[in-house]
Amino acid sequence: MSVIILGIESSCDDTSAAVISDGLLLSNVIASQKVHEEYGGVVPELASRAHQQNIVPVVDTAIRRAGIDKHDITAIAFTRGPGLLGSLLVGTSFAKGLAIGLGIPTVDVNHLHGHVLSHFIRQAKDDEVPEFPYLCLLISGGNSQLILVRGPRDMEVLGQTIDDAAGEAFDKCAKVMGLPYPGGPHIDRLAAEGDPMRFKFSRPRIPGLDYSFSGLKTSFLYTLRDNIKLDPDFVEKNRTDLAASLQHTIIAILLDKLDKAVKATGVKTIAIGGGVSANSGVRNAVADYCNKHGLKAFIPQRAFTTDNAAMVAIAGYFKYLDGEFCPLDATPYARVTI
Ligand code: KG4
Repeated sequence: MSVIILGIESSCDDTSAAVISDGLLLSNVIASQKVHEEYGGVVPELASRAHQQNIVPVVDTAIRRAGIDKHDITAIAFTRGPGLLGSLLVGTSFAKGLAIGLGIPTVDVNHLHGHVLSHFIRQAKDDEVPEFPYLCLLISGGNSQLILVRGPRDMEVLGQTIDDAAGEAFDKCAKVMGLPYPGGPHIDRLAAEGDPMRFKFSRPRIPGLDYSFSGLKTSFLYTLRDNIKLDPDFVEKNRTDLAASLQHTIIAILLDKLDKAVKATGVKTIAIGGGVSANSGVRNAVADYCNKHGLKAFIPQRAFTTDNAAMVAIAGYFKYLDGEFCPLDATPYARVTI
């Protein structure tokens, strides 16, 4: 009999539900919350309320689109953390309630494991998945990590940011340029038209495999401040070159440590994940790097880069196969590492 997992994701500002059957994706529904746009960032209380409104229709749609009945579901996987507590509570409570109603187990998922394992979401039976071990560059609004993945449940963080995440570097610099939140996709769009060599921003000198993005952010701010003194329209006139140079520097920082990690581990497969892995420049740079060094690259479809329940379902599927279920008194956690 097939193992059918319903995945539920509610860690931040996207309410998502997905159904997978023996690892094959049947549906993935995401309701994004527009309510935060006017505040320039996610407002936790508004996020939990929107999750409460969205969760029933989103889960219902995911089940219907999958062409299954709710009684066909084998187990429910839900994001237990990290994330916003109020948001996580909605998904956690809903998952438990539905599981009790259906008489099936729940599986709690670390959201970060979901990103790392998103490459195992298959849409067709012969879709290629990574071989172990592989290196995952996990880059999002909250994380920048290099992870050695030895198995679905055997991961080691080799390096991570000591300050800002790559996504924060995109978003904070975009904010001072007057771009809407989240700024990453706007920088991506503008960068395509600009000269990446026009401005030079500082790069970190952090030993080992750890990242740092706060120096870049400061140097970006100083560039703007110094030039605006001379020309108040500096940002407006140089938007594309600023975006391209910023993106170019972030990519150089990411690739520098990725290269060190490849050399240190001898791993032959690279995967990227998290919101920033939607960036066109990052995707091209990682693909080029892998081509040049004879490595296999796994670049996720854009739908699986941001928060989605398909990745929660696949991570939950592996845990389910190991027989690791979640007790009903489990509470969400705001912070957790790999
Ligand atoms: O994984 P994610 O959805 O959740 C958080 O960890 O918050 O990542 C969101 C981050 C934001 O910083 C956003 O600006 C960034 O991913 N992002 C991008 C792009 N699309 C999303 N950054 C650069 N280029 C993009 N195309």
